[in-house]
Amino acid sequence: MSGRLHARGTERVHKNVWLEFARLAADYKAVNLGQGFPDFSPPEFVQDAFCKAVSGGHQMHQYTRPFGHPPLVHILAKFFGRIVGREIDPLEDVLVTVGAYQALFCAFQALIEEGDEVIIVEPFFDCYQPMVKKAGGKPVYVPLRPVSGDGSAVPSSGDWVLSPEELASKFTPRTKAVVINTPNNPLGKVYKTEELQVIADLCIKHDVLCISDEVYEWLTYDGNKHVKIAGLPGMWERTVTIGSAGKTFSATGWKVGWAIGSEQIIQRLKAMHQMSVFDCATAAQEAVARGFEREYELFGTPESYFQQLPAMLHQKREKLASCLGGAGLQPVMPEGGYFMIADTSSVTVDFSDFMSTDDEPHDFRFVKWLIKEKGLATIPVSAFYSPEHRKDFDKYIRFCFIKEDSTLDAADDILRTFSQRQ
Ligand SMILES: Cc1ncc(COP(=O)(O)O)c(C=O)c1O
Repeated sequence: MSGRLHARGTERVHKNVWLEFARLAADYKAVNLGQGFPDFSPPEFVQDAFCKAVSGGHQMHQYTRPFGHPPLVHILAKFFGRIVGREIDPLEDVLVTVGAYQALFCAFQALIEEGDEVIIVEPFFDCYQPMVKKAGGKPVYVPLRPVSGDGSAVPSSGDWVLSPEELASKFTPRTKAVVINTPNNPLGKVYKTEELQVIADLCIKHDVLCISDEVYEWLTYDGNKHVKIAGLPGMWERTVTIGSAGKTFSATGWKVGWAIGSEQIIQRLKAMHQMSVFDCATAAQEAVARGFEREYELFGTPESYFQQLPAMLHQKREKLASCLGGAGLQPVMPEGGYFMIADTSSVTVDFSDFMSTDDEPHDFRFVKWLIKEKGLATIPVSAFYSPEHRKDFDKYIRFCFIKEDSTLDAADDILRTFSQRQ
């Protein structure tokens, strides 16, 4: 096709890891621990709120305020204002989007210009890279690296750290933004205040923005606390914090997300939103608003969903870790989120009579083998790395544990046969 008939950055849709592995999982009717969504319903209070919204009068079926349904932006401002200890203006500092995904898209499009460098911490949610490139920016990668212990402790996502020197070396006069994700997908790392402070100091020193993807903010384990980088001194003015009702209320199909930050930054994201989506679904926003209003009142109590969901997921995390350990797939215990990565290197698989191309990374081949031969779907972790670092991290695969116990049991049955095979 002539170059005049298309635009830069639009040629890669067919290679998307989610499309490829979701299709394979469906084709092979695999037990699916691949995609990151619950296979159970959201809590009743938000389901009821949604039903009430759709049966509650004509306004809920019509457009609402383009930058966010008023009850939702008000409660988001109140909720997050209490966490970061500052007044957040619901009308100026909050933008509601079609999931966190659209918030990310608006942030990159609104803030990144041709030639800007954007530092992305690896492993990263894979859409950051094409979004930066589509905006004309240049992704610059810096990996979290596992520090090797004495081998006695169970590996944890907390062992994966940024080298402050390596991070500092990535800043140039063209650096415009740093992108972080805490708790991290796929690793489950929850950044400690000291680690965020290193990033914040560099952002302030170089006058750089921070895009902080915090969609798993309520899901932390073992006493780890989620910290908002926007709450550190000097960071509010330069941080866009991105969240997701899908992850918050186990309702990924509702596609309600948000970006919160200073008015000066958010107004630019609003411009992008206005040019693309303009308005988000009213009833879903209404239900999410009611959910947050409830959680505001119950915050910190045992009735709060933000306590109950991580408590439930903690059990599931333990269950999955023990299945994986039994199958010889050494898990890295996540401090947060709902994914767990596992090391495949002690498992030898003969790929010789198995359909795959030679130059494909090991984890891609392993996952295809697991789906096709064993009926268990996961995601290769090297998909969360830049091409230059992919080879160094291609021994891990990602499992999602926000699944019914029956789904985890079905995975366990497969993993047991898998270990007997060794
Ligand atoms: C790190 C991260 N950011 C953003 C998103 C997108 O969230 P949403 O479904 O609200 O668009 C996801 C979804 O998996 C994610 O894992």
